Amino acid sequence: MALPEALANRLTVPAIAAPMTSVSGPELVIAACRSGVVGSFPTHNAATTEKLDTWLRQIFAALIDHDGPTAPVAPNLVVHRTNTRLQADLDCLVRHGVELVITSVGSPKPVIAPLHAIGCRVFADVSSMAHAQRAIEAGADGLVLLTAGAGGQTGWANPFAFARAVRARYDGPIVLAGGITDGTSILAAQVLGVDLVYLGTRFIATSESLATDEYRTALIESTLDDVTLSTRVGGIPANLLASWLARDDRSAANQESSSGFEQDRLLRNRTAWSAGHSVAGVGAVTTVAELVQAITEQYERARDKLLPTLTESRPEARIDTYRPATTPGNQGRVTSSVAGTVDLNRPDSY
Ligand SMILES: Cc1cc2nc3c(=O)[nH]c(=O)nc-3n(C[C@H](O)[C@H](O)[C@H](O)COP(=O)(O)O)c2cc1C
Repeated sequence: MALPEALANRLTVPAIAAPMTSVSGPELVIAACRSGVVGSFPTHNAATTEKLDTWLRQIFAALIDHDGPTAPVAPNLVVHRTNTRLQADLDCLVRHGVELVITSVGSPKPVIAPLHAIGCRVFADVSSMAHAQRAIEAGADGLVLLTAGAGGQTGWANPFAFARAVRARYDGPIVLAGGITDGTSILAAQVLGVDLVYLGTRFIATSESLATDEYRTALIESTLDDVTLSTRVGGIPANLLASWLARDDRSAANQESSSGFEQDRLLRNRTAWSAGHSVAGVGAVTTVAELVQAITEQYERARDKLLPTLTESRPEARIDTYRPATTPGNQGRVTSSVAGTVDLNRPDSY
């Protein structure tokens, strides 16, 4: 597994409660970390850098008080040039000695050196092979693969193809974002060679999120077919609930955009109801702890169901030595935490 033990050992299930504008705040982060999933939030959810400082104090105080291990806190920095608070928020994260930061909407390069100087790992979100390459060259410690169907600002790549293409060239931690609906999806992601997953949409309908009740109800009532791609919110394609787009006032500021990402525009539209295809898994409002427990149980059930299936079809195989049929291209190697140890560096291994 590419995930450092210092991270992996503190997780109930290999997941991150993904950073979400206007949804993730201290309560959600604290509950996630206490439940054993990484708790993330965009720094811009705190109205000012001073407020961010207060949030971090609150979060760390609550986690220190917790009886038992807690998962890492991972603030999310929008590194796009239009984020006027980037330097101030970065300085604040450095002062707090955070252990993991997730960057989005741009190259992580400007923030890597100051964060590495305090021993903080930096995961960068990427939506193409070129972005992945750029992030690795900049010194990122892990990649978040934004794929088709993700909530918020989405990727377009197919998760199967993207995860395998990146894994064939990169042996560091990979996080898969988009379409992770339940524990079964997490197991499937691990088979692809992924170390961690993002769950965003699933956490919106928790009682600890900052979402309104109206938004939570809309999620419960929506199906996968109700998710629509639009550039209206931040200027780049994002997945939104059709019910929000239908009731939005369609003023000039809210029309589709071709000018690219603008942080101001994103924050002006912060009340948008965003959701990914994983909305299919939202059936009720629960606490974060209940959600994590349900996902963990699904994950364990899926694993217990899958293992005998694999060993039955290949009686001589044990799961920790399972290999797919050898082909001239893959030399019998496979990148998967289900499959066990593998050569992750070989471009021909997928
Ligand atoms: C309401 C909402 C707001 C989001 N805001 C952010 C954000 O501020 N920063 C970020 O990096 N990603 C943001 N995202 C994307 C999520 O971090 C994550 O990639 C996505 O939710 C994964 O797909 P899923 O929702 O299907 O789990 C947002 C997603 C949603 C649903």
